[in-house]
Amino acid sequence: MRITQRLSIDDLGLAGEMLRRGQLVAFPTETVYGLGADAFQPEAVRNIYLAKGRPSDNPLIVHLGSFDQLTEVAMDLPALAARLIDRFWPGPLTLVLRKTDRVSDLVSGNLNTVAVRMPNHPIALELLQRAQTPVVAPSANRSGRPSATHWQSVLEDLEGRIDGVILGESTSIGLESTVLDLTQSVPCILRAGAITAEELRDVCPDVRHASETSHENELRKSPGTRHRHYQPTAMVLLDCARTSHGAHPITKDPRLLHKKIAWIGLGNPPALDWLVMEPCSSVEVYARRVYAFFREMDHLGIEVIVCSLVDEAGIGLALNDRLNRAANDRI
Ligand code: TXA
Ligand code: MG
Repeated sequence: MRITQRLSIDDLGLAGEMLRRGQLVAFPTETVYGLGADAFQPEAVRNIYLAKGRPSDNPLIVHLGSFDQLTEVAMDLPALAARLIDRFWPGPLTLVLRKTDRVSDLVSGNLNTVAVRMPNHPIALELLQRAQTPVVAPSANRSGRPSATHWQSVLEDLEGRIDGVILGESTSIGLESTVLDLTQSVPCILRAGAITAEELRDVCPDVRHASETSHENELRKSPGTRHRHYQPTAMVLLDCARTSHGAHPITKDPRLLHKKIAWIGLGNPPALDWLVMEPCSSVEVYARRVYAFFREMDHLGIEVIVCSLVDEAGIGLALNDRLNRAANDRI
């Protein structure tokens, strides 16, 4: 059992020192809250897996506070890496590169690569600079649960298991970073995020999604995608009905009978008599809200959460990806 200190933005010096001492400190980024530990202290990295209950074959993202730290963790950088970094860092783009010997197998999940990113968030950047070391930071939730988009969710999952949390604002994007693998012959998006393939194509025209390629190889390369993710206690059902006339078939589904139901999506809800309805004004708002909504519905004792899928433009692809992973089924 650890005592989890609440840290304000005036405590970033102390928070940096805590990381240097091998402690675990959660902090806001522009995507979701991260749970930080010194990437070069094996004991601290091991404690991250323990605190989250995370399978040890799911590698961690190394977060950098300055550009010169990159060569401490990654080597043989392709020319493309410099162009992407120039354009998208700091920002929600994680690059998978060849790792140096300083990166332990614990960080890389026994792969010979390392995932790195520089978050675009003033608190995260200052903390990383104060820590003076690369910092591993998975999303600050218990493994399998929805990611934390505000500090209250971090405490809900990790109070007593970590040493501190920085009390920042809610995160602005709400979904995890785009993960782009640069170690294959063609750059490959392993996880969709706020930086889309269209944006990346400006810099690397041949980028593709892992889902467009042979699956075995990609699954092996992105171990995190094998595990269940983002799940509330309530059953999550995806509304795939796209009928424009007559009764909406979703309301007739037997799994919805006599249940406490909530809905989140764009536009109008599929039914009028459900307990909670959250129409979002844009796909960005939906993405920002979805994880906190899942957690709030669990607190309300909701039994079924119906989520509408969205068009796959912009962050819509990443949102549909997370909804699909969280879902028990479709209707
Ligand atoms: O936005 C984010 O990326 C957040 C914030 C805190 O920065 N972090 C985050 O970390 O989402 P995590 O641990 O929840 O997800 C890391 C993802 C997993 O899907 C993992 O498999 C993948 O990155 N990953 C890490 N290292 C990898 C590697 N060497 N090769 C391929 N995939 C890797
Ligand atoms: Mg995660």
